[in-house]
Amino acid sequence: RPFQLTDRFGRVVNYLRVSITDRCDFRCVYCMAEDMTFLPRKQILSLEEIQFICEAFVGLGVNKIRVTGGEPLVRNGALDLLRNIGAIPGLNELVLTSNGSHLADMAGDLRAAGVKRINISLDTLDPVKFKALTRTGELGQVLAGIEAARSAGFERIKLNAVVMKDRNHAEVGDLVQFAADRGLDISFIEEMPLGKVDQHRRGDSYYPSEAIRADLRPRFKLEAIADSTGGPSAYFRVAGSTSRVGFISPLSANFCAACNRVRLTAEGRLLLCLGNEHSVDLKAVVREHPGDLAVLQQAIVAAMRIKPEKHEFNIHEQPVILRHMSATGG
Ligand code: GTP
Ligand code: 5AD
Ligand code: SF4
Repeated sequence: RPFQLTDRFGRVVNYLRVSITDRCDFRCVYCMAEDMTFLPRKQILSLEEIQFICEAFVGLGVNKIRVTGGEPLVRNGALDLLRNIGAIPGLNELVLTSNGSHLADMAGDLRAAGVKRINISLDTLDPVKFKALTRTGELGQVLAGIEAARSAGFERIKLNAVVMKDRNHAEVGDLVQFAADRGLDISFIEEMPLGKVDQHRRGDSYYPSEAIRADLRPRFKLEAIADSTGGPSAYFRVAGSTSRVGFISPLSANFCAACNRVRLTAEGRLLLCLGNEHSVDLKAVVREHPGDLAVLQQAIVAAMRIKPEKHEFNIHEQPVILRHMSATGG
């Protein structure tokens, strides 16, 4: 049978998340510091290098690639890159995670380029809260983006809401209703402590998935269903609709035993776990051995040996991972 990347714990890695830029037009409070400095151009992978690394991974059995950022659509050439990644023989699923800000213009082209599913961040339906959470974003722009995505014919659209006590936790019901009215899926995400971000950390904004489920119970009937995306969400069907509600619970329900993914940062670091710093510098490999697929694949296979067993997020301590989420793509 075909080769599959496998780590020390017997986990098969068939899912690559690729951050194509650390830049973003938003500054979400859980993701970035207010005064972020971004990587200089020379330090990030070229589009050709990203493509080459993706080809190497697909050759090693990866069949799902999710393109992330920062905001992936702010990178020049993102559309061509997506088209080229989507054309790699052996890849089943090209999917995208976006903040939605550019979808009003780009959704149709993204679908045509071969993006199958799209995840769009939406934490609140209140324009004032939206501005407060994203610092620079406009809710209307993202809602228009969601509408454009609906018209573009993606197989599924999933909304992502990071839930924080007192900032948006009271809106979870309205967010589910918004999704169900439109046939969209929605995942609620426990905030992970990464980077030096906002003062609201230190556990006081922690809102566990179990509390969200309790809040939704009087209003929606949720039926547990099996996951089909290979991601970390535990999914429920909203009774009487086509929508699914997912819970991503890195703090309250560690899902690392089923981990099937690694990440490529915009800088070309192969990050073996979101919640640890174990990584291999693939940029150095491709720059020292340009075009050498065998050397690159050897480095990737070897990297699996240092994939950690699990993340150790602790909401009650200062974040130990100083890398911002925007540098990793979530
Ligand atoms: P699918 O792959 O389609 O299931 O999507 P997804 O929900 O995994 O991806 P998305 O980019 O929408 O990310 C949603 C949230 O899941 C983000 O907050 C990610 O940081 C988080 N997430 C995804 N993979 C992992 C992981 O391996 N570990 C942890 N701790 N969080 C993850
Ligand atoms: N914790 C959890 N999720 C986060 N995201 C960004 N930062 C964090 C964090 N600190 C989410 C975004 C986006 C996804 C890729 O990651 O909301 O939907
Ligand atoms: Fe940008 Fe997404 Fe980070 Fe918000 S969460 S700042 S939209 S990369």
